[in-house]
Amino acid sequence: MNKTSQQVLVIDDEPDIRELLSMTLARMNLATKEAGTVKQAKNLLKDEKFDLCLTDMRLPDGSGIDLVRFAQEKYPHLPIAVITAFGNVESAVEALKAGAFDFVSKPVQLDDLRNLVAAALKASSPVHDDKERRHRHMLIGDSPAMQGIRGKIGKLARSQAPIYISGDSGTGKELVARLIHDQSARSQAPFVPVNCGAIPSELMESEFFGHKKGSFTGATADKPGLFQAADGGTLFLDEVAELPMHMQVKLLRAIQEKAVRPVGAQTEVLINVRFLSATQRNLSGLVAKGNFREDLYYRINVIELRVPSLRERVGDIPLLVEHFLRRLDEHGPHYVLTQDAYAALNAYAFPGNVRELENILQRAVALCDGESIAADDLGLTHANRGAAQSSFVPGGEPLEGYLARIEKQALIDALNHTRQNKTAAAKLLGMSFRSLRYKLDKFGID
Ligand SMILES: Nc1ncnc2c1ncn2[C@@H]1O[C@H](COP(=O)(O)OP(=O)(O)OP(=O)(O)O)[C@@H](O)[C@H]1O
Ligand SMILES: [Mg+2]
Repeated sequence: MNKTSQQVLVIDDEPDIRELLSMTLARMNLATKEAGTVKQAKNLLKDEKFDLCLTDMRLPDGSGIDLVRFAQEKYPHLPIAVITAFGNVESAVEALKAGAFDFVSKPVQLDDLRNLVAAALKASSPVHDDKERRHRHMLIGDSPAMQGIRGKIGKLARSQAPIYISGDSGTGKELVARLIHDQSARSQAPFVPVNCGAIPSELMESEFFGHKKGSFTGATADKPGLFQAADGGTLFLDEVAELPMHMQVKLLRAIQEKAVRPVGAQTEVLINVRFLSATQRNLSGLVAKGNFREDLYYRINVIELRVPSLRERVGDIPLLVEHFLRRLDEHGPHYVLTQDAYAALNAYAFPGNVRELENILQRAVALCDGESIAADDLGLTHANRGAAQSSFVPGGEPLEGYLARIEKQALIDALNHTRQNKTAAAKLLGMSFRSLRYKLDKFGID
């Protein structure tokens, strides 16, 4: 890339400081654009391509943190650094948490700036994956639980250990798996998700391990399997509880030997993949009942990462709402939720977790009048409305049992509402058909 083509956006309300920064950057062979307000900055970001963004913390119409969040959302590849008042550690930390790449303090020292720019441009230059992908792979949420998960993802990405991701339907298990991959040294190689419940049992071996031409009717050419497709990268065994017994044995062997034998082949192929797995079912329970191999369980579950349900982190709801709305209103009006709508969401049970929230907002945007989304536009299913508050006696019963009761009632209500049409009920609940089936099975609803 030609050095002179790189452009930095400088945001500060004081023209003198902007000029000083621009001149300094110009001496580093960088083109600059200047903005004095958050609004101007956003407009420039929309219209032009930048390689780095440098913003003051205090701006007339907002804070640097707002811009960091905005850039993280819309332009996840763009490194953004903040300029903080000298000694203001809190705001620097806040900015880093919000996704800032780095910070410099005022008065800006030339050397600091030079180091920051060099690091930022180095970090952003080989654009690994496309913008879309990064955007989709953002884990939103500021709750202690989510911050904990974010921290763990960073650490787990550096290890090679197999990780078992547990959590209810729609909590973000697959998203977490992708992030672990994206942040790992394997990020340049493929992330291959496999829905173990979706492959017909008789095709599974060939799907996983590949096959040789002529090894069975229909095998008209050599075909690599999922293991080979993920070579060097990550294989995500989603809905791992659905693996039939015969495949559990074969998989265990492949994991232990680090080799696979394609169907019909004489020799084994060495493979190098990292295993992540997930299920919303209770895997240890299945092991206890003899429905899942214990040895495989211990192989894939070296580390367990539990993604909490949305009800356990209602504090994340506003950020998630903003995130999803921003995605929905990219080209249209800017939707906002009324206070009532937020209150309704806070009291809602969310059996389908984050996925359900996303669906609720999608529907609301389609149904609402104008740009304001009211509680009624959310179309929350009655059984789950206010459920979290109504009969809760603090300390009266363990949270898990309480939530399970709400969940069960929601399933029954949805089924009644749709005259036992499971597909429609799943839609109503904002969960996949498969998830619904699990849940019905789990709660013993016929
Ligand atoms: N913290 C989050 N921030 C942003 N988006 C999220 C978050 N958690 C989940 N999502 C989004 O919600 C949807 C459901 O997430 P995902 O598919 O990862 O859930 P899951 O746990 O695998 O669900 P299931 O058990 O039904 O397979 C996806 O669109 C995902 O991008
Ligand atoms: Mg999933």
